[in-house]
Amino acid sequence: MGWSHNVTVSGRTAASQEGMPPAKPFDLFPTRIWQVSLNRFSSRFAEWLATIEALRAAAPIPAGRTNRGGWNSTDNAVLHQPIFGELHKTIRDYCLQAFNEMGLASPAFELQSWANIHDRGGFNFQHMHEGALLCGTFYLQVPEGSGALVFKDPRPGVHNSYAKGSGANAFKDIQLHPSAGLLVLFPHWFEHFVEPHGNDTPRICIPFNALPP
Ligand SMILES: [Fe+2]
Repeated sequence: MGWSHNVTVSGRTAASQEGMPPAKPFDLFPTRIWQVSLNRFSSRFAEWLATIEALRAAAPIPAGRTNRGGWNSTDNAVLHQPIFGELHKTIRDYCLQAFNEMGLASPAFELQSWANIHDRGGFNFQHMHEGALLCGTFYLQVPEGSGALVFKDPRPGVHNSYAKGSGANAFKDIQLHPSAGLLVLFPHWFEHFVEPHGNDTPRICIPFNALPP
């Protein structure tokens, strides 16, 4: 996955300018997300997965929203359960890192969190997390064939770009292929969707919103 796309000037172009230096590129309006592996908790994954399966068994009607072909919890405080205590604290710490880099210092916030399961064919419609300071997902089970998390290019004007793909100023969508243990943080206004799941073993994650109090 290409997160940065360096602009290089070919030798032929530079030579044709007879010693003139190439124009220096400046990438404006970058969009930052954060990724970190939390595999140091891997010995806990089995009990966390069992907890989520139990949540589903106890309340099998999905909350719905943008999830289709799977189940998501109506419980929006999943990470507040004591069994997720360490994970909750760790995610809060990474939110603070992101807030710091966003120039927000250390705002007061609460984590709203829920469980998300995709059975075979399950997916999420395109959406954004309106009203949050920041949002993200922790991936607990990502079998082969899991759909990508796709971020839509957030620059309205670039949808008219003649150039498509990884070049400078080209229109592009970004596919993120998570694995179990990955924590991803991204801006709440970043539109995204999840491609259909292609395995009989479900894809299971814990999405969250950092909400102002
Ligand atoms: Fe989402």
